[in-house]
Amino acid sequence: MADFVGAVDQGTTSSRFMIFDHGGNEVARHQLEHEQILPSPGWVEHDPTEIWERTRSVITTALNKANLSAADLAAVGITNQRETAVVWNRRTGRPYYNAIVWQDTRTDRIASALERDGKGDVIRRKAGLPPATYFSGGKIQWILENVDGVREAAEAGEAVFGNTDSWLLWNLTGGTDGGVHVTDPTNASRTMLMDLETLDWDDELLSLFNIPRQMLPQIRPSSDPQGYGLTRAAGPFGGEIILAADLGDQQAATVGQVCFEPGQAKNTYGTGNFLLLNTGNELVRSTNGLLTTVCYQFGDAKPVYALEGSIAVTGSAVQWLRDQLGIISGASESESLARQVEDNGGVYFVPAFSGLFAPYWRSDARGAIVGLSRFNTNAHLARATLESICYQTRDVVEAMQQDSGVVLDVLRVDGGITANELCMQMQSDILGVPVSKPVVAETTALGAAYGAGLAVGFWKSTEELKRNWNEDKRWQSEWNDEQREHGYAGWKKAIERTLNWVDID
Ligand SMILES: Nc1ncnc2c1ncn2[C@@H]1O[C@H](COP(=O)(O)OP(=O)(O)OP(=O)(O)O)[C@@H](O)[C@H]1O
Ligand SMILES: [Mg+2]
Repeated sequence: MADFVGAVDQGTTSSRFMIFDHGGNEVARHQLEHEQILPSPGWVEHDPTEIWERTRSVITTALNKANLSAADLAAVGITNQRETAVVWNRRTGRPYYNAIVWQDTRTDRIASALERDGKGDVIRRKAGLPPATYFSGGKIQWILENVDGVREAAEAGEAVFGNTDSWLLWNLTGGTDGGVHVTDPTNASRTMLMDLETLDWDDELLSLFNIPRQMLPQIRPSSDPQGYGLTRAAGPFGGEIILAADLGDQQAATVGQVCFEPGQAKNTYGTGNFLLLNTGNELVRSTNGLLTTVCYQFGDAKPVYALEGSIAVTGSAVQWLRDQLGIISGASESESLARQVEDNGGVYFVPAFSGLFAPYWRSDARGAIVGLSRFNTNAHLARATLESICYQTRDVVEAMQQDSGVVLDVLRVDGGITANELCMQMQSDILGVPVSKPVVAETTALGAAYGAGLAVGFWKSTEELKRNWNEDKRWQSEWNDEQREHGYAGWKKAIERTLNWVDID
């Protein structure tokens, strides 16, 4: 068997291709950003064609860097930004509209009308989700209603939907020439259209959004020994490799962090933050603002579920300091700037740019910087930004403990922001629990590789994967309880100030 496994990680800000060896060590990677298209307040789009081009390019470049070819890869897995909706024509291969990104709030009226009309409960019960702009269902409905010709084409079976996993799998397996139209339960569980128990599209849910069933991809296991299809020799791999895993990015990171036991959790710090707690084969219904979601389904085994706390804006608040305010020139400068002051100087920043996600689910909220006095500087704002990442995490950790009764003894972290030592120290201070980071921090791509490798027998079991996990660094809390509670009380007041800002109806 070949010595390596590949993983495509199609993220919100960039696409990467990574190659791993049997020990789970990185062998090569290449990464390219794509444009964030922001046509009006609250709207966020990506160009699916650009994403496909960038994906091709990172695959070819990473293989070249490592001097490897298709024959060296035992399998390839894919992981992706979830919820982001692409609708394309399966005959021409052309998208009808830009991808509507998970952060986009244009469907707020669709979401609030569902709640107002009493449909919220059926969505919560079947899909495990509250009606919100975040998920794919409303985005598909918006495209069907606002782009000429799509509804007719969808009824005729020509216009099809996918998240970026499906879009790339279709293209990698030949596109208009026999491409497969598939997804997995972790991605499907983010649409508001799948029943969590049957793992199938649900007619009642489809009717709420008026979406024709034939638009939707076939749902296949997240790690599939049969494979979804083969890459094409004419494509970026230059040969035929089995595509054998598909996991939403946050579920992939949970797999990459080897959280295979009920009660284990990870928190990924990227564009947003996503805390997932493995709840095993049990579907746990949240009463505290968390989502119930599919964690993974390996082969014909029963699905494993998770409770999830999704936070829309964390790393993107750091990018906002850089791109919109211009007070730092790179993300890592947020740390040196924040270190110029000892504390937040009374300033709290709630980056509710897309409303508030977990545990609040308030699309009427917008961002606020509060507590300002003449004394404050950019350094306080940088500090408040890093603190906002940690306080939002505390909000979801509290909700998770209430829902599950699981008390965290350590928080396993990964993602781009974990390079920020100050932020990780603050996280431990604000939570009062140790924070632990693994050697391979690219857990998202690693999880997709694990799924693909398990499918083809490159790795024999999850036990084998657990042995690949090693701690790189651990942070211990340095705050006392009084500091912690005082700081958190300020955060809660700041949250109050962001609510009821946008009039939706
Ligand atoms: N040293 C740092 N301090 C603070 N934030 C950082 C630092 N380095 C990176 N970031 C932030 O981390 C994010 C990138 O992390 P990562 O690459 O894990 O993101 P991601 O969520 O995987 O991206 P995508 O959503 O495209 O998949 C960016 O938003 C960036 O602002
Ligand atoms: Mg990512």
